[in-house]
Amino acid sequence: MRVRKAIIPVAGLGTRFLPATKAVPKELLPIVDKPTLQYIVEEAAASGIEHIVLVNGRNKSAIEDHFDIAYELEDTLRKRDKVALADEMRDISALCQITSVRQMQPLGLGHAVLAGRAVVGDEPFAVLLGDDLVRTDDGQRPGIGQLIDAFEQTGKGQVALMQVPKSEIEKYGAAVGTPDANNPRQFLIDKLVEKPPAGTVDTDQAVIGRYVLPASIWPLLESTTPGRGGEIQLTDALAALLQKEGLGGYTIDGERLDAGDKVGFLQANLIEAMSRDDLRARVVEMMRGVLERFDG
Ligand code: UTP
Repeated sequence: MRVRKAIIPVAGLGTRFLPATKAVPKELLPIVDKPTLQYIVEEAAASGIEHIVLVNGRNKSAIEDHFDIAYELEDTLRKRDKVALADEMRDISALCQITSVRQMQPLGLGHAVLAGRAVVGDEPFAVLLGDDLVRTDDGQRPGIGQLIDAFEQTGKGQVALMQVPKSEIEKYGAAVGTPDANNPRQFLIDKLVEKPPAGTVDTDQAVIGRYVLPASIWPLLESTTPGRGGEIQLTDALAALLQKEGLGGYTIDGERLDAGDKVGFLQANLIEAMSRDDLRARVVEMMRGVLERFDG
């Protein structure tokens, strides 16, 4: 069955970005001039996703507004002859069909994904975390598209993996297993653990915020009880799926940037700015000045 729908959870509290996230959801913080979440919705739409389920929490009406038509703004821009900008605003609302559901309390990522069940129903679906960016080159298949292809080829749920220093694996969902001899991007997972205490697992394969899952995950999510940090963990439901019918790991060809982390967010801004022809030279000059001032 084709993967047509995607869940994007955006109901977290974003405590690492307080006070910025007191009234503004972290998924709307901009990377240069575009909200993090818009990059992610564009990635999903360019991968063939037709319907996105946004799992919203408190203070998230701004997210819905961002993907809606803004008549007054467009009208004003057109009257001021800013036609290209008005068209760009209109294009945002045409990216994809978007349905919002509410996660009443931020009880964890597994709980947030489960909130999308009624809209997704009995078909495979993608999950993209609202603060994780995956950059690919122009013309290249986007990150979640690569994972959808791996799902369709293997018939198994897929989690995106990236290599990290073993000493840092305790900050991530950890995948233990072996690389597939026939496909170096594919990883045969034996065990999945959410943020394992230091020294308890021997792996450098960390789960990042892209997944493609079969509908058989639903009952497993329903029966997942609070795990690490008292939260209902997606990783625990994935570990149950692994036991039941197997689960693949896949290394996306692209660059993952963690916009939910302060330094990751700054890095994403700099990389995005440097990739824009109209900004690169000025940004290089600015960074040289900053480095001279603080690093010299
Ligand atoms: P994070 O753990 O990075 O988000 O979850 P957070 O809890 O908002 O961030 P901090 O750690 O307090 O700064 C990854 C994604 O899952 C969503 C978040 O919005 C984020 O996009 N999420 C997390 C939910 O939708 N619901 C939850 O209960 C937890």
